[in-house]
Amino acid sequence: MRFRKSCIGWMYPLERKDAMPRKILCVNIDHIATIREARGGTEPDPIAGARICEQNGAAGITVHLREDRRHIQDRDVFTLRDIVIGKFNLEMALSDDIIGIARSVLPDQITLVPEKREELTTEGGLNVMKNESRLRDLVVEFREKDVVVSLFIEPDLPTIDATKRTGADFIEIHTGSYCNAGSHEDRSRELQRIYRAAEHAVSLGIRVNAGHGLNYTNVRDVLRTPGLEELNIGHSIIAQSVFTGLATAVRDMAILVEESNA
Ligand code: PXP
Repeated sequence: MRFRKSCIGWMYPLERKDAMPRKILCVNIDHIATIREARGGTEPDPIAGARICEQNGAAGITVHLREDRRHIQDRDVFTLRDIVIGKFNLEMALSDDIIGIARSVLPDQITLVPEKREELTTEGGLNVMKNESRLRDLVVEFREKDVVVSLFIEPDLPTIDATKRTGADFIEIHTGSYCNAGSHEDRSRELQRIYRAAEHAVSLGIRVNAGHGLNYTNVRDVLRTPGLEELNIGHSIIAQSVFTGLATAVRDMAILVEESNA
């Protein structure tokens, strides 16, 4: 049984299933690298960004190593593996190239996401049914390496049933439809879908993360999701940091998460 380092909220044995979990914030720092890549230089440095995030309430760091390497680069992932104190979560597509890198890096968690070259950001959840046997093999392989596996999926019950068949430890519920909903009715319908999906996952013994499109306002209702353990938030924190600095932007979000644990 593996315990992580002494970072808030990430001290449980990974197999823990009882009681209401303590929610943690993992900051997705892809967009620090997006700014760096805009000029092809070295600033701002995502590694320095990760340190600031962890010093200001982030219990973990998330990056998405995309096949087109538009933001995070391979060297970032290897360095982050060495310097992240809390949970290091590597998002990636079902791509042999990236899976090979994950085998060398051995993050704490891999989150498998769908990926299209032309998209601005991850659109929709993973098609678990279509990839079920491949996912099952990856879950077995990475769990043997002490890496937990999360599948980024839409809040939809048949997909959660399929996730159960893969043996994955976590789902990450795609909160994009909720965040993009145009009306109050649509937003509450999407929120109920998230809550129902989380309840179903927990009833099957699957642990629950969530993310995508969350900001300082819409995160509040998502923090009420049954069984929620981890939020992955990137764009709104990095955007806010332009005005307040990264430390304040992370702290303000971490406070919202921490208040929901009270
Ligand atoms: N979770 C997953 C699986 C993602 O792909 C992303 C975007 O990279 C996020 C969370 C973070 O989304 P946002 O940048 O909108 O907060």
